[in-house]
Amino acid sequence: GKSGYDHFMLKEIHEQPRALRQCLRERVNEMDGKVSVDVDFAPERVQFVACGTSYHAALFGAQLLQQSGIPAQAFLASEYATATPPIGDDLVVGVTQSGETADTLSALREARRRGARTLAVTNVVGSTAARECDQALYVRAGPEIGVAATKTFAAQVVALTLLALSTGDGDRDAIGALRKLPGNVQAVLDESTAREVAEEYVDSDAFFFIGRGLSYPVALEGALKFKEITYEHAEGFAAGELKHGPLALVTSETPVFAVVTGDGEQARKTIGNVKEVEARDAPVIAVTDGQSDVERYADHVLRIPAGEPRTAAMLANIQLQLVAYHTAAMLGRSIDKPRNLAKSVTVE
Ligand code: F6R
Repeated sequence: GKSGYDHFMLKEIHEQPRALRQCLRERVNEMDGKVSVDVDFAPERVQFVACGTSYHAALFGAQLLQQSGIPAQAFLASEYATATPPIGDDLVVGVTQSGETADTLSALREARRRGARTLAVTNVVGSTAARECDQALYVRAGPEIGVAATKTFAAQVVALTLLALSTGDGDRDAIGALRKLPGNVQAVLDESTAREVAEEYVDSDAFFFIGRGLSYPVALEGALKFKEITYEHAEGFAAGELKHGPLALVTSETPVFAVVTGDGEQARKTIGNVKEVEARDAPVIAVTDGQSDVERYADHVLRIPAGEPRTAAMLANIQLQLVAYHTAAMLGRSIDKPRNLAKSVTVE
């Protein structure tokens, strides 16, 4: 059942601290800061294939692997035919919650025909992807009923972070941040003002989401979740791309959610983009850890605990899940089974 929640989606959003604890269990050695995910992982190069929300997790994973010095690229599974074919020691990683998505299975099969090794990152033990790939990394989020992926996305992102960390020889900062993540997710759930933000902007014309670096996939995911369950027009952009076109859509009736974490170069640049939309009178909702001065330019702030860059993006995503949920609830949408959508898409 829904354990007292109005929807499975809200229940699953609240199950995220537990899902992440399960995902982390026995994979992190607190003593030496080393990570082990029981996957033989020493690739020359990595290609990710995935669809929808799982593609956003893959974009995140590719950035983390690049940071660890492993060339990595994420492809939409349905566009994998356009990728340079994998060779020799390349690893092709299918990120698929269900393990049954036709586009992803077909890209993985193509990779295997080319001689590549394959890894499934999935939530379902014994799923087709898990059976067909050389190896499987389970994200352990527990069953997800809501069509909109929430806790499985969070667990995918953590599993991919663990995979990237498993290639190094102990990153204490990252391990410490991961260990604190479930508690920080709980703090966001307990303290979020997403409902008030939803109430304020529910009648808007369109909703935009911007971020750069690790916050870019979060912006894409924020917009996808929002459009799926509210049926309102929502778009995610790389913050730097705004001025190359999307800015033409920005008005006083289009709230812009800006994901800004840390106080480095990326935050500074995104704040520049925030000023551009503010100058067009768009309401700005900053999703931030309070490290930069983005709040000065924002009409609303959705706060996340300050921490490490790799976990900040995940925390920001929780806020955006809640905004989407509360907006959809106010609009009376069919949140757990949005129109035209299925939990697992078994046709190409
Ligand atoms: C969005 C959503 C979909 C899935 C996509 C891939 O909330 O759930 O975009 O992420 O259909 O599904 P899996 O991960 O099962 O391959």
